[in-house]
Amino acid sequence: MPVMKETSVDLYFFSGAGNTLLAAMHVAEALRGGGVEVRMHRLEKGTPSPAEGAALGVAVTTACFSTYPFAWEALRRLPYGAGRSAFGISTMAGYSGGLRGPLRALLEGKGYVPVGYAEFLMPTNYGNVEIPEEKNRARFAACRESAEKFARRLMDGAAEWRRGGPLSPLFDLLGRRSSWPWRLMRRMYTLKVDDRKCIQCGRCVRLCPTGNIVMNGYPRFLDRCVVCQRCFAFCPTGAINVPGKSYRQYRAVEYETLTSSSL
Ligand SMILES: Cc1cc2nc3c(=O)[nH]c(=O)nc-3n(C[C@H](O)[C@H](O)[C@H](O)COP(=O)(O)O)c2cc1C
Repeated sequence: MPVMKETSVDLYFFSGAGNTLLAAMHVAEALRGGGVEVRMHRLEKGTPSPAEGAALGVAVTTACFSTYPFAWEALRRLPYGAGRSAFGISTMAGYSGGLRGPLRALLEGKGYVPVGYAEFLMPTNYGNVEIPEEKNRARFAACRESAEKFARRLMDGAAEWRRGGPLSPLFDLLGRRSSWPWRLMRRMYTLKVDDRKCIQCGRCVRLCPTGNIVMNGYPRFLDRCVVCQRCFAFCPTGAINVPGKSYRQYRAVEYETLTSSSL
């Protein structure tokens, strides 16, 4: 197996409700414990560009058996890898379909050497009528343990990044190359602001990764929502919801962690 030869990592992540951030933080912490310098960056903030001599880490949410279109766009803008190591992390609530293989192919095509990939089963971040606290705690604990093992395997050269399975191209076609799952999700989870609960803090506007929310007195949604759940998860007054549904707010980390400048 290829070894992660670099002693520093630029780890780019996107996380809607904090699950992926939590997994990425666990991997980063374990790598740091092994003497690797890890810098974490938000994928939605611009073009990723790992520093000279650093390995690349990518951590993304599984969404529609792939990941969010804006995340693919950012990753497509990565510079040539010149043989540096790359590892991937994803979180999912059940089945990830077409993420591992296509992500590996994209990075390989850009000259990165895939050294390891880990996916973590986490709580679902949408459509919760109840929050199963105990089950969620068990998933967080398992994630932490697997993340530490994954980091060790990366450092030992024992991690692997397998190609996609036989159904991977199908899911890739569905989740990455077509827009209808996203349109369907948007229709099923059309988020609205309850102006009576909204305190006009603008947090949702700042957090939206696609610039889909504008402040027009109260926050208003445009047509670029990818249903990542961030605005819903981190609204301080629970003013964002799907009309007619009483979905419970779920987040894995607090707002201060999601937006921290020292991860
Ligand atoms: C729009 C959307 C689509 C999702 N699609 C999938 C999926 O295809 N497979 C899956 O296992 N989980 C899916 N999930 C669940 C998330 O992958 C899972 O809860 C993840 O840990 C959320 O991470 P985050 O909080 O970092 O965004 C989806 C979640 C959302 C919001």
